[in-house]
Amino acid sequence: MYSNSNSQNYIHGYSRIEQSRLTDQAQTLSDILHEGTRYCENESILEVGCGVGAQTLHLAQNSPAARFTCIDISTDSLNEAQQKIKVAGMKNVTFLKTDLFDPIFPPHSFDHIFVCFVLEHLSSPETALDHLKNLLKPGGSITVIEGDHGSTFFSPQSTYASKTIQCLIELQARYRGDSLIGRKLYPLLHSAGFTEPSVTPKMIYVDANTPSMIEGFTKNTFISMVAGIKPQVLASQMMSEQDFDRGLDDLLKTTAQDGTFCYTFFKATAIK
Ligand SMILES: C[S@@+](CC[C@H](N)C(=O)[O-])C[C@H]1O[C@@H](n2cnc3c(N)ncnc32)[C@H](O)[C@@H]1O
Repeated sequence: MYSNSNSQNYIHGYSRIEQSRLTDQAQTLSDILHEGTRYCENESILEVGCGVGAQTLHLAQNSPAARFTCIDISTDSLNEAQQKIKVAGMKNVTFLKTDLFDPIFPPHSFDHIFVCFVLEHLSSPETALDHLKNLLKPGGSITVIEGDHGSTFFSPQSTYASKTIQCLIELQARYRGDSLIGRKLYPLLHSAGFTEPSVTPKMIYVDANTPSMIEGFTKNTFISMVAGIKPQVLASQMMSEQDFDRGLDDLLKTTAQDGTFCYTFFKATAIK
């Protein structure tokens, strides 16, 4: 855990399982989430909250002639990210430990900024966007990708499964994050003073026709995330262990031959 007051108590933590979940998530979703995100030769891009480098790899590979500076506040995650990029043989990435609320860069340092799955964990995404805007050159772009747990629906329906997801939403709110932030990206960017905000919903629909999405998204990304909050749910008595486990079992039923699962990410771009 880290101490920045704007991002304290990161709900998912930094465990091995969580690091692997982030990598699974990025690999499964890379075509969908990185579609249209390409940067030109010698452009400088700041990736904020790069974590274990799950998105960094796709950014660097998709724009091999651009230069990426990737920041995070977790030394362990940065080390892992560095290793990932080294193994992939990419040379266009620099990693730095710095806090987005207290960055070491002068104003107008970057042509573009990329932020994925970070604002949802901050108590003040508005302040974060103000800080990031300051680091952008005039005319530069920001790309923000976030999920929205309220966008989840599935078959077979289950009140137990829905309750486990509601626990995730409420717990993240207690940790001063906002797991419903996807739907708020347009107003957030607009009120931060960015121009031309444009938001694309990226709906993920999974059924038995897409076994790789069942594994990579429904099981290893979403259900794994819900399973990860079990200790906090039990400690705060939001659900009994029996009910929570039944909710998880019911979520797993959406991955069966006759099950389906839907979730929507939101990808926003805007200009300074
Ligand atoms: C859910 S992870 C997302 C990692 C990566 N962007 C991805 O999509 O896989 C959120 C990351 O944001 C980082 N983070 C949180 N607050 C931050 C801050 N104030 N400055 C820099 N990084 C921060 C956390 O350490 C964590 O690695």
